[in-house]
Amino acid sequence: MRLFEPCHINGKLALKNRIVMPALVTRLATEAGEITEELLERYLLYARGGTGLIITEAISVRKQKSGPLLRLSEDRFVPSLRELTDRVHEGSDARIALQIIHFMKTGYSGHRAMPPFWMPEKVDVYLAADIRKTLRHAGYQTPIVTSGRIPNAGVAESLLENREADLVAIARPTLCDPYWPRKTVEGREQEILRCVYCNKCKEADEAFQKVYCAQWKKKDGSFEIRSYRRHASRI
Ligand SMILES: Cc1cc2nc3c(=O)[nH]c(=O)nc-3n(C[C@H](O)[C@H](O)[C@H](O)COP(=O)(O)O)c2cc1C
Ligand code: SF4
Repeated sequence: MRLFEPCHINGKLALKNRIVMPALVTRLATEAGEITEELLERYLLYARGGTGLIITEAISVRKQKSGPLLRLSEDRFVPSLRELTDRVHEGSDARIALQIIHFMKTGYSGHRAMPPFWMPEKVDVYLAADIRKTLRHAGYQTPIVTSGRIPNAGVAESLLENREADLVAIARPTLCDPYWPRKTVEGREQEILRCVYCNKCKEADEAFQKVYCAQWKKKDGSFEIRSYRRHASRI
C-alpha cells in the first residue's frame, strides 16, 4: 500500500508512512496553556499507534483567554513543548510538528471542516487535489496533505493512487482508535474501533470540555480506550 510507504518532505524530513494525525484540540492543557500528563499520554497514543506525522493541536501565540489551550505566547512554554517532542521520539518513530493559531479565520469551519456522518466521504479533498495539480504544473514537488471524512485505509489509499494528495490526514478516526494504522499493517482491521462521525468530540471542544471519543465512554461516565487496552499486550 502506498499509504505505508515513506515520504520525504522537501528532502529533509523523513516520514515512515503517509498517515498524518492533523491538529485536534484535546482541551487537556491547562487554562494557563501548560502541558499536562493526560495531554502527553494522548499524543503518545497517536505516536505508538503508527501515525507517521502528528501535528499538535492549535497552539496559541497570543495571550488572550480561550479555555484550556496550549500556548507559545512566551518563551517559558518552550521546555514543556520540547518534552512533548522528546517523549514522542522516545516512544515511537513518529514525527511531530506544531500548529500555531492566531485566531484568524482562514478557510472552512464548523461542519464543513469536520464533516459529520451525513456528509459525503472525501468532501474537501478536491481542494488539495486542485492545489497539488497547480503546484505540479508550476514545477513544485512539495507533498500535499488532505483531510476530511477519510474513514479508512482503503479510501486513503485510493486518493493517493488518484494523485489527489501525497499525505492523508485522518483526525477523528485516529482519536477514535489511535492504533488503526498498526492494526491495518498487521491485518487486524476487524479490531479497529471505527469513528461514526457523530461529532461529540467536536461538541466537547466547543464547550471547552476534555475531548474524548464518545465511544470510549463507560457506564460510570469515565472514559477508556477499550480497543487500545485490549490489544496493548500485543503491540
Ligand atoms: C475536536 C476537534 C478539534 C479540532 N481541532 C483543530 C485544530 O486545533 N486545528 C485545526 O486546524 N483543525 C482542527 N480540527 C480539524 C481536524 O484537524 C480535521 O481537519 C477535521 O476533523 C477533518 O478531518 P477528519 O474527518 O479526519 O476528522 C479539529 C477537529 C476536531 C473534531
Ligand atoms: S466522538 Fe468518536 S466516533 Fe464521534 S466523531 Fe468524534 S471520534 Fe468519531
